[in-house]
Amino acid sequence: MVTSESTSKVRPSGEGKAVLPLDIARIREDFPILKMKVHDKPLVYLDNAATTQKPQRVLDALNRFYTRECANIHRGLHYLSDQATVDYEHARTRVQRFLGAAESSEIIFVRGTTEAINLVAHSFGRKFVGPGDEIITTVMEHHSNIVPWQMLCEEKGAKLRVVPINDAGELILDEFEKLLNPKTRLVAVAHISNALGTVNPVRRMIEMAHARNIPVLIDGAQAVAHTKIDVQELDCDFYCFSGHKIYGPTGIGVLYGKAQWLEQIPPYQGGGDMIISVTFEKTTYNCPPHKFEAGTPHIAGGIGLGAAIEYIDNLGLDHVAAHEHDLLEYATRRISAIPGVRIIGNAQKKSGTLSFYLEDVHPHDIGTILDRDGVAIRAGHHCAMPVMDRFGIPATARASFACYNTREEVDALVRGVDKVREIFAR
Ligand code: ALA
Repeated sequence: MVTSESTSKVRPSGEGKAVLPLDIARIREDFPILKMKVHDKPLVYLDNAATTQKPQRVLDALNRFYTRECANIHRGLHYLSDQATVDYEHARTRVQRFLGAAESSEIIFVRGTTEAINLVAHSFGRKFVGPGDEIITTVMEHHSNIVPWQMLCEEKGAKLRVVPINDAGELILDEFEKLLNPKTRLVAVAHISNALGTVNPVRRMIEMAHARNIPVLIDGAQAVAHTKIDVQELDCDFYCFSGHKIYGPTGIGVLYGKAQWLEQIPPYQGGGDMIISVTFEKTTYNCPPHKFEAGTPHIAGGIGLGAAIEYIDNLGLDHVAAHEHDLLEYATRRISAIPGVRIIGNAQKKSGTLSFYLEDVHPHDIGTILDRDGVAIRAGHHCAMPVMDRFGIPATARASFACYNTREEVDALVRGVDKVREIFAR
């Protein structure tokens, strides 16, 4: 049903630049799972920050790999192996263009953002971090951008420094500036917070760090599907993301690293593909990206990710961002009008995610009751316990948006939260 409140049309973007409308009904047709019913109700999928659903194009790419070209890459001299290698490397080039990287050798396929950050912590950390050194991260990070650095610091006798946030959930840049010092070896910061939706001023932070010759890693897990990335324009040293959060398969992700770093840092894991020659006396390593891709990779995943990027490129990320911005504003307005609701994260620049807390109700109860109406959200600490502590709460309920969501789905969320409030008021 289309109500006067509802719209699938995209408004002009914040900069006043007119963008073409997306045909959301048509986009929804591309995602078979969206036709599902859950507990006899139409599925309303608002857990896109956890993972996005997959368009038919991605499902077809996976199916085609396994039915028509299944073989290992970079090894065989036969037709199937050649075909698989060409498609896998084509996907790498597609990612390179998508991120605006200078070379396809700067794109390393990994399992996901977590593995990408662990790779940098191990490889960069092994070479460049020592006793008394410091790594800077922020209070709003996902555990994946905290724990690997904690482990590194523990091993090396280094120190983890943490940028605080204000009550709106924005980084305090003056405090960041104070933390930068000659002992700082790396800054690791989320582009967009998974728990708050805050869009961090990463361009500015990179400039501030680079002014002191400090490299910067950006955790782009929550950004790639929602905002245009240009790693050369950002000038970041490392950028990582997960394929499954951008309509691609699980188990595949990307680490972008500037060539100058990838050449200097040691391999992460040893095994096939990362070597040129092996003897018991000495092993010589392959060049990037292969130096960091030991073992048979997730070939189908890489090809599927290439298809996902092709899909989003065809929609136009600017159009998607404008549509999601409209949904976020609409949802924020409607959810905050519910008595007892507190929005967690009120940054001036937000994207994709709405976290909230309902007085006297545990977020898990909200999630469970919404689920009975077919509405999928995430409830919990979102693997970001320090930021929950910062706001003095154990968890939030979180709705997160993708290109296929609609205002009608936001209305279903609002009805569900109202119902929760009524149940708990009894
Ligand atoms: N990192 C994912 C989330 O925020 C799983 O839900």
